[in-house]
Amino acid sequence: MNRFLDLADFSREEVLDLLALAKRLQEKPEPQALSGRTLGLLFFNPSLRTLSSCQVGMTRLGGNSFVITPNHGSWQLETAQGAVMDGAAAEHVREAIPVLASYADALGIRAFADGHDLAADLAETRFSAMAAVCDKPLINLESAVNHPCQALADWKTMDDLQVAAGGKFVLSWVYHPRALPLAVPSATVHMAAMRGMNVTVLRPEGFALPTAIMDKARSAAAAAGGSVSETNDRDEALEGAQVVYAKEWGTTAPYGDTETDAKLRAQLRDWQIRPDWFERTANDCRLMHCLPVRRNVAVADEVLDGPRSVVRQEAFNRLAVQMAVFHRMLARQ
Ligand code: CP
Repeated sequence: MNRFLDLADFSREEVLDLLALAKRLQEKPEPQALSGRTLGLLFFNPSLRTLSSCQVGMTRLGGNSFVITPNHGSWQLETAQGAVMDGAAAEHVREAIPVLASYADALGIRAFADGHDLAADLAETRFSAMAAVCDKPLINLESAVNHPCQALADWKTMDDLQVAAGGKFVLSWVYHPRALPLAVPSATVHMAAMRGMNVTVLRPEGFALPTAIMDKARSAAAAAGGSVSETNDRDEALEGAQVVYAKEWGTTAPYGDTETDAKLRAQLRDWQIRPDWFERTANDCRLMHCLPVRRNVAVADEVLDGPRSVVRQEAFNRLAVQMAVFHRMLARQ
């Protein structure tokens, strides 16, 4: 495997194979598998889980890693093509990425969306430009509209909990004080569809996921025997749900319009998941969230601390799936 950028690049069988490897490595560690291998980690944005699970995952497999966080102990990096670099950035990714790749056996990059130009973000313009100058295996650690490692961990979490593949999966918008990117909701709706679930995207007006994201998920659902729908009707969405996946994201009407976003979300503080959201769901309905989560803003304490919440299992599974991805990319056969 040379690239891990999007679950959609893999067949369902290949994803199941990666999940089986994650389970195997969890149960039977291979402390020498990546001996002498180095993973370079380039983080343009903050992280708790992704950064630490990558570093620990490499260590547990006998390899090592280094971390570059531009402008925090290393040069500020320019990513725009054709930029006149007379501002703060001292170096362009066109030099920096080949240099880092030459020191490493694989690179992982986190670079969130610009959040202004929907077409550019949907096309992963910035990430693709960096991928084009990386001649080593590359892992997407969250880009403009994707977070495949999180999606793989969430799939594993549902497998571990024996959530039925054909069950009802509700991806619900939840309140946050400011607009967040589309990476996790986009990856999540696709992952659940690819797993064969009947997916409902529950979101207020003004927060519909882009058509391209919904169409991609619908194609995955059609291939896997599931479905994808969307609504702003909370009761209808939650009826019979087996999973409620909470996520915050910014307005798409229009995308990146901070003034419209602020006006819309000011009315939406009641989009906080509280115990009464589960009155119509399946009895054993689970609450998922990729973390970080704002307590009593996005999800109430009673839900996060109650038996429905599997947010910690999702985070724990980040380690197992990172190890599977590294092993598949870097283990000597
Ligand atoms: N879920 C996730 O990617 O967490 P971090 O942003 O902390 O890495």
